[in-house]
Amino acid sequence: MKPIKVGLLGLGTVGTGVVRIIEGHQEDLQRKTASAQISIEKILVQNLEKERTVYVNRDLLTDQAEDVIANSEIDIVIEVMGGVELARAYILEALERGKHVVTANKDLMALHGPEILAKAAEKGCDVFYEASVAGGIPIIRTLIDGFSSDRITKIMGIVNGTTNYILTKMSQEGAAYADVLKEAQDLGYAEADPTSDVEGLDAARKMTILSTLGFNSSVDLKDVEVKGISQVTKEDIAYGKQLGYEVKLLGIAESQDDHISVSVQPTMVKKSHPLSAVNGVFNAVYVYGEAVGETMFYGPGAGTMPTATSVVADLVAVIRNMQAGVSGREIFKPYKEKKLKTDEQISSKYFLLLHVDDKAGVLAKITQVFSQYDVSLESVLQHPNQHNPDAEIIIITHGANRASMNNVIAEFDRLDVIRSIKSVYRVEG
Ligand code: NAP
Ligand code: HSE
Repeated sequence: MKPIKVGLLGLGTVGTGVVRIIEGHQEDLQRKTASAQISIEKILVQNLEKERTVYVNRDLLTDQAEDVIANSEIDIVIEVMGGVELARAYILEALERGKHVVTANKDLMALHGPEILAKAAEKGCDVFYEASVAGGIPIIRTLIDGFSSDRITKIMGIVNGTTNYILTKMSQEGAAYADVLKEAQDLGYAEADPTSDVEGLDAARKMTILSTLGFNSSVDLKDVEVKGISQVTKEDIAYGKQLGYEVKLLGIAESQDDHISVSVQPTMVKKSHPLSAVNGVFNAVYVYGEAVGETMFYGPGAGTMPTATSVVADLVAVIRNMQAGVSGREIFKPYKEKKLKTDEQISSKYFLLLHVDDKAGVLAKITQVFSQYDVSLESVLQHPNQHNPDAEIIIITHGANRASMNNVIAEFDRLDVIRSIKSVYRVEG
């Protein structure tokens, strides 16, 4: 049988693992693909002289993209180089030439997924992107195949390992955000420029992909409301813990009556909820389906071998489709009109930390504002503040719509007895 020839774009963290798995698992891969022999034909890199951490024949390396994307021998292109514009151009060109594509690139799929999938459909090619969300967790195939019979109403994800590592350390050690970020950078867990991770953009891109798949509706990155973790304080975490919550950066996608909302925000997660126990760099995706109920998928969200596992699983899927003559079937195509929820339709519980004047009547004024906007309270705690004359009030509301909460907060801004609204968090679990 003719070998299946693969071209790689990139031989970095993920590409190295892809080579290791293709070379090291050759026999198993053959058994899983009706004896297909997978051969790596060319690998695009930037620096031909760089020392590699996996053995590759130097003749396979090239710094010319055409050697991969315009190579008539190559059947499947694996894009693991990252970036958006070049990767987009290379993938579109490869598809134009009838090559199937596997990519780990969430930035690309979140921004240009519809264009790339449309080109693949036009050319009868497959494009798979399992590794783009939550690295080693097979969540994309689960949403497309495993839940094809169900109607998904909620997806909540810890889909960024860097921020989960930082929040876990802050919680376990009582450390401040800036100190933990610095330590994470020194250890190489966080990037030198951590903005995309800590400000929630990386998670937002992943939630764009997951919500599109889960709700069968074309969600854009701009539909995702994003707030990162840089304003989370150790006091917030300590008060959350006292009340039985952990702070997690959650991607939250909800669908009700075909209206959807997608956000990324630091969230107080009740300790009884399984997402609260996801620690360190691990990822987890919680999916609620009308029929199945609660499910959760947990595992490594990044790293050489976990991510490469997903990439090579996609490669197997492409090969199986080639062998069955069913490539480019468009197994996933959003078919629902996108309708976004209004603030009145988005409901959750909230945690608020207020610094207030420590005098009679303050609590009455505060509860009066909640009652004015029909927000009911679950619990109210008051702490004397050791460092200044204010009192600290922590409030957990019952479920309230966001329009009402926005009104409450605007009113608090005007209320003379409130010195500052220190924190506002969504509450889950
Ligand atoms: P990386 O370590 O930076 O590797 C990138 C590779 O692409 C390198 O081999 C580099 O060449 C090559 N490259 C980059 N730009 C190039 C260009 N313009 N021309 C030619 N070659 C170029 O990146 P990575 O961490 O493996 O990530 C790859 C992709 O996987 C990204 O889309 C990322 O978001 C995604 N992903 C990564 C992880 C993870 O754990 N790292 C997890 C999930 C998804 P040189 O080696 O010569 O520099
Ligand atoms: N920067 C990402 C994270 C890598 O911290 O999870 C995986 O996409």
